[in-house]
Amino acid sequence: MSPTPLISRAATALAGEVTVPGDKSISHRALMVAALAVGESSIDGLLEGEDVLRTAAAMRALGALVTRRDDGRWVLFGRGVGGLAEPDDMLDMGNAGTGARLLTGLVATHPFTSFFSGDASLRSRPMRRVIEPLSRMGAGFVGRSGGRLPMAVIGTASPIPISYELPVPSAQVKSAILLAGLNTAGTTTVIERQATRDHTELMLRGFGADVAVEALAHGERVISVKGHPELTGRALKVPADPSSAAFPVVAALLVRDSALTVTGVGTNPLRCGLFLTLREMGADIRWTNSREEGGEPVADLVVRHSALRGVDVPPERAPSMIDEYPILAVAAAFAEGTTRMRGLAELRVKESDRLAAMARGLQACGVRLAIEGDDLVVEGGGIPAGGATIPVNLDHRIAMAFLVMGMAAAAPVAIDDASAIDTSFPGFAALMNGLGAKIGADQA
Ligand code: S3P
Repeated sequence: MSPTPLISRAATALAGEVTVPGDKSISHRALMVAALAVGESSIDGLLEGEDVLRTAAAMRALGALVTRRDDGRWVLFGRGVGGLAEPDDMLDMGNAGTGARLLTGLVATHPFTSFFSGDASLRSRPMRRVIEPLSRMGAGFVGRSGGRLPMAVIGTASPIPISYELPVPSAQVKSAILLAGLNTAGTTTVIERQATRDHTELMLRGFGADVAVEALAHGERVISVKGHPELTGRALKVPADPSSAAFPVVAALLVRDSALTVTGVGTNPLRCGLFLTLREMGADIRWTNSREEGGEPVADLVVRHSALRGVDVPPERAPSMIDEYPILAVAAAFAEGTTRMRGLAELRVKESDRLAAMARGLQACGVRLAIEGDDLVVEGGGIPAGGATIPVNLDHRIAMAFLVMGMAAAAPVAIDDASAIDTSFPGFAALMNGLGAKIGADQA
């Protein structure tokens, strides 16, 4: 496929009310858990981005009945816990780290072998973090050097329940182990020193699994799942993705005279570190109409253009905003003073090395910054120059962050390829242009 360059020019006041697509994390989990449930499940608001469509295709390949109705509702008939069937071809997970890692857990405790691959970005990402605990449960793995895809997962017929302390704060690793624990007799336990997003725990409980969560001091949690639960099909609604809402929200903060509302956004506290940080920076963001949908808290976000000031973002906040640092770094470039984002080691192993990508891209746009150990330090003050073309390297969030930069920078900002945006936010440019942005094809 040939690349699709885009350019973002200065926007005038962004205004309106929008709904961003469904939450990517919850969408993956909804498909996977519904595929294990007995009977019918229906999902409204599923993110129909590339990443999630790969998971839908994988669940089909594993034997679940997965259909999309004309009204956009997804309907699944699951196979029951332990009932997945051997896929007859490679599971191609595209760009999706979440899809690849969670599914690896799911099939690790089924008595068959599956083969996983993905795009160049996913094939470069570390899988050892799931291979390690899942090997202890009895599964076998044959992958490339460094534990990278393509990889065969040799599922075990007699899984062993484990108690595992996460060496890195990762919801994907936690979830892979919990999903493996479903088809494992006894209790499987994950200990996390820093709380990470708990969508798997909430989703499993919603479908009838016995999941215990013990919160200890300093954000530490002990999460246990009892094996062989009976999961029952249900109807659920996926909230709008706070990680996608982040882009129009920051755009409205940066573009003068903007005022907009983003409706039905997930406000799970383990996902909302960005909004907390932006408020500390002086952002006018209010939550209205707070409610619960499908077992998750949601609200409408009302945001107005605000003068921002630099802040110190503590490392313990990272898990609750891990995907939001690219757009926070853009906001920091427009803030008055220095913003120090601490403890960003995990950003190096995302869809791209986001620490390096942000540093290079911001510097190209005339922003002064430094990487000090695992910290990113951005010097704000004034309007950044812009006027650069940013290489995206198959990373959707880098692409969207720099398009937002172009809306408020002195000169337009271009990206070399917008196609990755569809992994999480199909229709991004059209939605932003509907609010007043000026994103268009870059002929340069
Ligand atoms: C996700 C967890 C995070 C996040 C990713 C989605 C999830 O990854 O970056 O986009 O749905 O569990 P890690 O578990 O690697 O931190």
